[in-house]
Amino acid sequence: MSKIWAGRTDGTVNKLADDFNSSITFDSRMYRQDITGSMAHAAMLGAMGIITKAEADALIDGLQNILDDIDNGSLAIDVNCEDIHSFVEQELTARLGDVGKKLHTARSRNDQVALDIRMYLRDEIDEISKLLRKLIGAVTDKAQEYKSAIMPGYTHLQRAQPITFGHHLMAYAMMLLRDLERLSDCRKRLNISPIGCCALAGTTYNTDRYFEAEKLGFDGICMNSLDGVSDRDFCVELGADISLIMMHLSRFSEEIILWSSWEFKFIELSDDYTTGSSIMPQKKNPDMAELVRGKTGRVYGNLLGLLTTLKGLPLAYNKDMQEDKEGIFDTCDTVKMCLGVFEGMITTLKANTDNMLKAAGGGFINATDLADYLVKKGMPFRTAYKLSGGIVADCIKSGRVLCDLTLEEYKNYDNSFEADLFDEISLETCVSKRISEGGTSVSSVEKQIKYIKSKL
Ligand code: ARG
Repeated sequence: MSKIWAGRTDGTVNKLADDFNSSITFDSRMYRQDITGSMAHAAMLGAMGIITKAEADALIDGLQNILDDIDNGSLAIDVNCEDIHSFVEQELTARLGDVGKKLHTARSRNDQVALDIRMYLRDEIDEISKLLRKLIGAVTDKAQEYKSAIMPGYTHLQRAQPITFGHHLMAYAMMLLRDLERLSDCRKRLNISPIGCCALAGTTYNTDRYFEAEKLGFDGICMNSLDGVSDRDFCVELGADISLIMMHLSRFSEEIILWSSWEFKFIELSDDYTTGSSIMPQKKNPDMAELVRGKTGRVYGNLLGLLTTLKGLPLAYNKDMQEDKEGIFDTCDTVKMCLGVFEGMITTLKANTDNMLKAAGGGFINATDLADYLVKKGMPFRTAYKLSGGIVADCIKSGRVLCDLTLEEYKNYDNSFEADLFDEISLETCVSKRISEGGTSVSSVEKQIKYIKSKL
């Protein structure tokens, strides 16, 4: 395939070097953005009198036809071309003749590729946000369903205090909501147009960068042409934002894996989201959750890879920057798959509320409430804490839990214990009393659900 840049040389390159240099196998996915960007560019050239109105119209028509033909499958993208930009320009010239050669006036592939990636990732952000919203909705609905299902809350993976499954789920809804906000914040900085920065220094033509920016839905233009073609911050930012999403999904996955184990048996995943073993007939494996946890690694890797690629680059464009795409594309593909699968996995999971309650009944998770009871009777907290710890130790020795002791036994520890103690340390009370803002009580969880819904 001849090169659009043949001139100083005849454009022939060693075959291996040519393959090495080519990016069309991965940048062809930006064909829509590339063509749409070129249409806006042609329109601007026509509007500013850089080319004639008729020429601009011919270019726009030709580009639209190419887009339609790729969309309907009648035009295959030629992988022998160097990149998607060359392919579109060469195809346009093949169709229109000399007029096609006017498209690249007052433009460089450097600002063109920067434009394409921004437009591509802008669409990806919108798509990911939509999936994220759906997942937050699914998590919130599950929380509503289980807002009064008592389970042990953990610290250090040791039973700590009773909470509800709804409260636990809402913690993830809050994390995912932050992720959603981060994406929209990233979109603001991304949605600035680099087109018209040209190779690095701007252009001598009388262009209108605002015209193009507005036509393509940007909120503004990059104000320094060197920065405009060199900036890949938005790829890093998006990669970091998605890394956080993956980190949250990975923590959630870890819990789902634990909860669905025989040891916990807190939840049952739908058969639709589990697999079996080729040898062990009893197995029902949480592969989807494990894969999400596993894929988090490659998303982090993509982020680190890009940061490392960028760190030593002088201004302005360097070919190293062609390495920006595969990582961030893979990151977007990966998170979209994970979010989609996760939503179904959450929607279909069932909690084993009996087992959750049973687990909450062991492990002295109402010991804080025992101490708090004594505090309300007038004992200083540290004294109450110590006495309660002693009672727990005695219970462990005698193989009982706090609710098993009689009032007489409690009175032997301290005379301020009364019959109302048993209600105070019941799991239901422990949960329902935690009405502080953001706490685990049903009313608080309901408030959290309302808050999330107002944000969606
Ligand atoms: N394929 C290139 C990339 O992805 C397009 C820009 C090429 N610019 C250039 N001066 N060689 O970065």
